Amino acid sequence: MKRGGSEAAKRRAGESAAAAVDDGMVVGLGTGSTAAHAIRDLGRQVDSGLDIEGIPTSFQSRELAREAGIPLTALDEATPDVAIDGADQVADGDLVKGGGAAHAREKIVDAAADRLLVVADPTKEAEVLDAPVPVEVLPDARSTAADEIEAAGGDPTLRAAERKDGPVVTDNGNLVLDCAFGTIEDPGALAATLSAVPGVVEHGLFVGLADEIHVGSDAGVTVRQV
Ligand code: A5P
Repeated sequence: MKRGGSEAAKRRAGESAAAAVDDGMVVGLGTGSTAAHAIRDLGRQVDSGLDIEGIPTSFQSRELAREAGIPLTALDEATPDVAIDGADQVADGDLVKGGGAAHAREKIVDAAADRLLVVADPTKEAEVLDAPVPVEVLPDARSTAADEIEAAGGDPTLRAAERKDGPVVTDNGNLVLDCAFGTIEDPGALAATLSAVPGVVEHGLFVGLADEIHVGSDAGVTVRQV
């Protein structure tokens, strides 16, 4: 899926994060158009002799990694030294993710990694998070979870598929509610509220997980430590 800024900006961010990967590392491979640039770059480095193993976060990143020739492993075999992942919005090191409905597996891999490098373009940066938060729910919990999210001040919308009638179904067989909360003053508190809703598999607030933010632009790339 194509979102956000220019391909050149995304490529600079992805390649900047891929440059931080060393021989012998296990690398979490994020999902989306920006992380895809990092995966392609890592594939080129593997071609040139870099010895790494990747742990994909989605069907998309697995396919891309296989095409790029990156050897794959799994979380029950290895712990990622680093994960490289995109974001839909970044503010103060906290993230909203899940624009591609991959946030559940992304959070598992990103949280397991020793370091999370976020790759983004300037359109993703904000002072305060205010993007709708994707919430993956078990199909049976679609209505009850939506009611609880409304009671918590959110406005949930079932994500509709494109080029398929009906809803988006995640790689895990679940549904996604995109939940608008307006300005999110306390992402940690909202994350805890959403996690406590029965039937919620995972939400797209990534609080306190990022270690570095690589922001590519048409002019270059800046790296911020969090
Ligand atoms: C996938 O569900 C998301 O979390 C992506 O990582 C996020 O939407 C960023 O994608 P882009 O790099 O394509 O904007």
